[in-house]
Amino acid sequence: MQKVIITGGTGYIGSHTVVEFQNAGFEVVVIDNLSNSIIEVLDGIEKITGIRPIFYQVDVTEQKDLEIVFQKHGDAVAIIHFAAYKAVGESVQEPLKYYHNNIQGLLNVLSNMLKYDIPNLVFSSSCTVYGQPDKLPVTEDTPVVKPESPYGNTKKINEEIIDDTINSSENLCAISLRYFNPIGAHTSAYIGELPLGVPDNLLPYITQTAIGLRKELSVFGDNYNTPDGTAIRDYINVCDLAKAHVFAVKRLLNNVLKYEIFNIGTGKGSSVMEIIKAFETSTGQKLNYKIVDRRAGDIEQVWADTSKANKVLGWKAEVSLDETVKSAWEWEKKVKRD
Ligand code: UFG
Repeated sequence: MQKVIITGGTGYIGSHTVVEFQNAGFEVVVIDNLSNSIIEVLDGIEKITGIRPIFYQVDVTEQKDLEIVFQKHGDAVAIIHFAAYKAVGESVQEPLKYYHNNIQGLLNVLSNMLKYDIPNLVFSSSCTVYGQPDKLPVTEDTPVVKPESPYGNTKKINEEIIDDTINSSENLCAISLRYFNPIGAHTSAYIGELPLGVPDNLLPYITQTAIGLRKELSVFGDNYNTPDGTAIRDYINVCDLAKAHVFAVKRLLNNVLKYEIFNIGTGKGSSVMEIIKAFETSTGQKLNYKIVDRRAGDIEQVWADTSKANKVLGWKAEVSLDETVKSAWEWEKKVKRD
């Protein structure tokens, strides 16, 4: 059985990715410091797949602790590196925390990969590296700009660090996946998104409003230059997104190219109002919302050109927006909060 190490494997995207690797017949080792997730996520994974992944509560910025895991699992064929902070607003308030965690974490992962001769890396990047592109949809050749936030900048810098490290090493190969907006939960509702405190992101805010935890959703701006005036994003089902990592590892195992980048989205943009409508139609829940001012730092619209991922990686988003939004609601109804 081939082994992969998944850092951040109890997080939102990480946990869904563990499930997809187990379903594809890989042995999975999870590393997570549980700073933004809970240990019970492993129970959810086990309920879905029947397998509990090997788990280390380790902070990727702690090189000594991390190395112990690499020493033990130097036979892994690939690392999927998720472990990072991800709150855009917080990164503006505390940039050093973000630069330290997100960059030191990658540096440690890469140096251990070199030391223990683990050849393949899949890195979780973001469409935030494109900023507001002039031309839509965005392809992987769309110029990368200085991102709006320190969080986004860590993604851009990390892509560059990976590129330089790959060029300096004969054996190391990598794929960066630039995610658009991941939403939804596993259809079993055993795992899903678990935001701490008030959610920043649209879908968890919607489901928490519908369940009564929040009074109403604020729609940030209805005066954008879009058909209904609200901002547009490419919302991708989290299980579809998770599967893209399995495709990426399989491609790396075929030794095709040293370093590649793929957009991972649906190829279709949806406005905030369209997401609200999709939620109301697919769940039968009426949502309280009001229009407020634009949120600082938000871009107007972005969606992916996914033809490279479709043709080269052989991956395609499959789950519909309605099903995805419904899965987020099923998860919200099931999740227990202390
Ligand atoms: N929105 C609302 N109300 C809310 C929350 C969001 O109207 O309460 C709107 C936003 O203004 C935006 C859309 O919903 O138009 C999506 O917002 P999210 O916060 O869900 O997602 P973003 O597109 O802002 O951010 C996401 C990821 C980031 C990543 C970024 C890249 O969360 O990690 O995409 O573009 F950097």
